Amino acid sequence: HRSYSVSSAFDFNTHLVPLTSSAESRYQQLGATNAPGSNPVGTLEKQKTLTYLNGLSLLVGLQIGSGIFSSPSQVNNHTPSPGVSLIVWAVAGLLAWTGAASYAELGGAIPLNGGSGVYLRYCFGELIGFLYSWTAVIVLKPGSAAIIAIISGEYINRVVTGSFTADADAVLPSEWANKLIAFLCLSLVTALNILSTRLTTRLSDSLLFLKVGSLLAITVIGIIVAATGLNGDGKGASTEWKDKGWFNSRKGGVSGRESESMVGGLGEYAIALYAGLWAFDGWDNVNFVVGEMKNAQRDLPRVIHSAMPIVITSYLLANVAYYLVLPGEVIGRSNTVAVAFGTKVFGTAGGVVFALAVSLSCFGALNATTFTSSRLVYVAGKEGYLPAIFGTLGFRGGGNQPSRRSPGTNKKSILERVLSIFGRGASSGESSVHSWNKTPIYAMLLNSFLTTLYITVGEFGTLLTFYGVAGYTFYFLTVLGLIVLRVKEPSLERPYRTWITTPVIFCCVSLFLVSRGVFSSPLQTLVVVAFVVAGIPVYYWRVGGWKGWKLPWRKSING
Ligand code: ARG
Repeated sequence: HRSYSVSSAFDFNTHLVPLTSSAESRYQQLGATNAPGSNPVGTLEKQKTLTYLNGLSLLVGLQIGSGIFSSPSQVNNHTPSPGVSLIVWAVAGLLAWTGAASYAELGGAIPLNGGSGVYLRYCFGELIGFLYSWTAVIVLKPGSAAIIAIISGEYINRVVTGSFTADADAVLPSEWANKLIAFLCLSLVTALNILSTRLTTRLSDSLLFLKVGSLLAITVIGIIVAATGLNGDGKGASTEWKDKGWFNSRKGGVSGRESESMVGGLGEYAIALYAGLWAFDGWDNVNFVVGEMKNAQRDLPRVIHSAMPIVITSYLLANVAYYLVLPGEVIGRSNTVAVAFGTKVFGTAGGVVFALAVSLSCFGALNATTFTSSRLVYVAGKEGYLPAIFGTLGFRGGGNQPSRRSPGTNKKSILERVLSIFGRGASSGESSVHSWNKTPIYAMLLNSFLTTLYITVGEFGTLLTFYGVAGYTFYFLTVLGLIVLRVKEPSLERPYRTWITTPVIFCCVSLFLVSRGVFSSPLQTLVVVAFVVAGIPVYYWRVGGWKGWKLPWRKSING
């Protein structure tokens, strides 16, 4: 009954496993990597420790972060009415679910740690697999960290400066102050991650309750306020929904630009969807640890098919509550809807409490992202994708050498000793990855550097689209890979087969999303394309292909 933390969720070591397109050799490789004395790849997959509940809390915990407390403004502003906003939220959730169901099939058929990177390599070869890792390191990981940091910054800034917005006369904190606080949060999280892996992984785990609790509180409060009309500011809840109904067109949304063509309207919906999808993002995360599940064939689909409806329902209810209490205009005005909500119902104190809760939720999400990203960069460095320094473990007690201390004989720091009082699990020295003696400090610094860059140049709305275009391009390719495999390898063993309509729907909608993003946000798309394409020469430089040059260790793995 050990507790499961995000630390083991991101062992990207399986990128090291060479994959060919034959199902048979796939299983041979799986066996081979578990051989004693082999590279560390097999060790994690050999120890199958994750239960259904571990997977469920992992998935729910990684999905709930900043999005449900910040995206409602973007969704609201790019749709014509509250009712349509709710529909966009539902569509985003269902789309994420079809994606996750497709990933459940892939995870069963290719039961290795590593997620998208592994599937893409299996289906489309080394280059595409590499480009995914590259994009994850350069765009996806730091981009998502920047979004979360900016939202934390904005929430904290409101507490510090006392700018609470329960009504239309919003005091907006300065954008640069938000960014400065975002940067401070990032620095704090990075420092914590360098100091103690155990502290940071535990932190993420314990914040799950806070996040779920905040969502429940918002829902219950919203319903009570709507039913009784009671709230702190004495002005009553928003009656917009009573007066005008849920589907009235408001100004400023899609319908506010009626002169625009249908295409413009669709572009608006694409942007609204990206904002909603951000809140659901992370639905592919159990796939990163599928190799560690006790009974992956049974539990991976079960985890996905229970986590998704839970998250979708709680997000829809929270959004209904927002609209019950606040007019759409107010929701659209700030990225910190929970502050407006708390202030409206309970006055300033309520605003402070909600701002703190959401800041902590974002802080936890930032922390988890920092942890996982640094491991991704670390493995990319180890594989030779990035300069070797990023694949070294720095410095806890000096030196960059990877630790030679064997698990179980770790000398514990005082902080670790203190922490081990609070829990079991990671402290008992199960595996080299569960108890990192040292942190991949250079990898972490690279990730923080890129994140700082995105915090500086970006803002919430533009970063959402930027992240969405890049992310959904690779989600699309991965699910397309599922369809390709159904045709190319019909006899591949698939313990879980999703209904074929599921990946088809996912592919169609994500293709629409990506192509609409191209037209409605050409600048962000251009940057994404430039970054991805920049990976191609890097691939030929670092991974080989030039004069048949291959990385030495790669040869040795291949035999
Ligand atoms: N859904 C999360 C949020 O609302 C973002 C998850 C970021 N993506 C990830 N793969 N960790 O903040």
